[in-house]
Amino acid sequence: MNIILLGPPGAGKGTQARILVEERDMVQLSTGDMLRDAQASGSEMGKLVADVIARGDLVTDEIVIGLIREKLNAGGAAGGYIFDGFPRTLAQADALGELLIEMGQSLDHVVEMSVDDQALVARITARSTCGDCGEVYNDNTKPIPADEKCTNCGGSNFKRRADDNEDSLKTRLLAYYKQTSPLIGYYYAKGQLQSVDGLGEIEDVKASIASILG
Ligand code: AP5
Ligand code: MG
Repeated sequence: MNIILLGPPGAGKGTQARILVEERDMVQLSTGDMLRDAQASGSEMGKLVADVIARGDLVTDEIVIGLIREKLNAGGAAGGYIFDGFPRTLAQADALGELLIEMGQSLDHVVEMSVDDQALVARITARSTCGDCGEVYNDNTKPIPADEKCTNCGGSNFKRRADDNEDSLKTRLLAYYKQTSPLIGYYYAKGQLQSVDGLGEIEDVKASIASILG
């Protein structure tokens, strides 16, 4: 089963993707994570995209489609793929459709996670991530444990993202509404769109997604 988690910054795509990986043996393909990995590795592409990401704008379709193509060619997802933060433009959506056809695979569900903008600001400015395993924390809803050890891997290398500030978030939201939200109509027209309320507790959102995926 291949699915897209579609939603604005802070909607909870990464949080739910990690749960699905754990419980359904799926593979999370987050273009945001891939781009941050490229930055951390010091590659030319990583250097090229650093400012764009920190500002909150989208990187080029060419770069992200290339990253996804590479991962799909590598294969290896028994339970299927979770596309997290990809596609984000109509060109990326078309490219994904073509890539899946080439592989003889299909897109089974597009899950839109809806949340209001006020909640997003609060969520994003309170987020931190384990730099070792990627576990996502939140100062308000899922704080880092008192012993400062990651609940998933035991590491203590917590990070805040360079684009998790109010200014970059405004740009990210604008990019979402201008370039990504047309995908809601695109997948609705294809009969593939289903929506969940992303404002509930993590467990409630998980249950809503499970009822769609079956
Ligand atoms: P990316 O990394 O994809 O960021 P994003 O889309 O802005 O989304 P986030 O990762 O910020 O949010 P999320 O929905 O994963 O929420 P999370 O689960 O962490 O992209 C970053 C940048 O890379 C882009 O701006 C762009 O520059 C570039 N990029 C990436 N993909 C691209 C593409 N395809 N094309 C072009 N450019 C691309 O949750 C957020 C917080 O809320 C956490 O603290 C979490 O603990 C908390 N939380 C989650 N769920 C709940 C809940 N139900 N209740 C309470 N708190 C919750
Ligand atoms: Mg994310």
